[in-house]
Amino acid sequence: MKKNGEMAVRRPDDMHLHVRQGELMKVVVPQTAAVFKRAIIMPNILPPVTSAERLERYRERVVAAAGSASGFEPLMTFKIIPGLSPDVVQELKQAGALAGKLYPEGATTNSEDGVSDVQTIYPVLEEMQRNDIVLSIHGEDPDVFSLDREEAFLPTLRQFSRDFPDLRIVLEHLSSAAAVQAVAELPNVWGTITLHHLELTLDDLLGGELQPHYFCKPIVKRPSDRAAIQRAALSGSPKYFFGSDSAPHPVDRKHAPTARAGIFSAPVAYQGLLRFFGEHDALERIEGFTAVYGADFYGVPKNGDELVVRRQDWTAPDEVGGLVPYHAGEVFPYTVIP
Ligand code: NCD
Ligand code: DOR
Ligand code: ZN
Ligand code: ZN
Repeated sequence: MKKNGEMAVRRPDDMHLHVRQGELMKVVVPQTAAVFKRAIIMPNILPPVTSAERLERYRERVVAAAGSASGFEPLMTFKIIPGLSPDVVQELKQAGALAGKLYPEGATTNSEDGVSDVQTIYPVLEEMQRNDIVLSIHGEDPDVFSLDREEAFLPTLRQFSRDFPDLRIVLEHLSSAAAVQAVAELPNVWGTITLHHLELTLDDLLGGELQPHYFCKPIVKRPSDRAAIQRAALSGSPKYFFGSDSAPHPVDRKHAPTARAGIFSAPVAYQGLLRFFGEHDALERIEGFTAVYGADFYGVPKNGDELVVRRQDWTAPDEVGGLVPYHAGEVFPYTVIP
């Protein structure tokens, strides 16, 4: 930070984002496009992105929702569902797919059509490896106790790493010390980290009153898990980079007898990261985490333009188009000037 309280930073990317569809999409895409240049767009919409044609149509809708003036660029993915033919992988590559996303069946929102037996998708993974398409994973085994689901998935992650040594793999939204460790050990595995997993433990979610806007999959865990995630983000290792997993749900699905999993963090994501890195005296490391390591992993050029960050309080919105954002109404120490 310069004497005048300002610094210029390379414009960031969000390497894990849910933008939904329909009216919701028009509300949420501009929130990301206001700060981020690009985002990896998750494919768990209805019906899911499973063909080149659907991928292209979805991209067009995201671009339209961002508005042409924004310069926002969606980076597209497809969903690996049982029965997906390896033949479509090449078409998806040609349509611009950077990653295929694996959801274990029943692990999270819209994963009823996820994969239950990973052996069945080996031909698809072979084809992805051949075409240099990233394997992105929601790494939880939904059949075990909720706090142990991520760790229970790690043997499968190690198996993928061994069986597909040339496949580049990203374990999304790291939530446990064990997962941070696995990423460090496995040569072809990287990990994304969210703002909320850097900030929260289970006590924030349910240690006092139940906080539906802190409820996500994988669930926030122990202080020791959070500490490991924080160390990874602050380490400067290119193995760990930012993906918000911003996952909006309408208020009537969050303030309800059963609340959907997902934290709508996009409106505060970069401001939250600035606070986090600032509090750890590591502001100079935010650029690698948000604008270098992820771009290098996905093989896209680093953004050429910059944002200005000013040391001046900024208040998060109370609501965004009827949605409740993460940290609604809270004051943050930095203001972002696009
Ligand atoms: C739903 C939508 O966009 O309407 N989300 C989705 O990904 N299909 C909203 C929801 O999460 O219920
Ligand atoms: O909390 C979550 N919500 N985690 C996910 O992995 C998916 C997401 C969603 O799509 O709602
Ligand atoms: Zn996920
Ligand atoms: Zn997600």
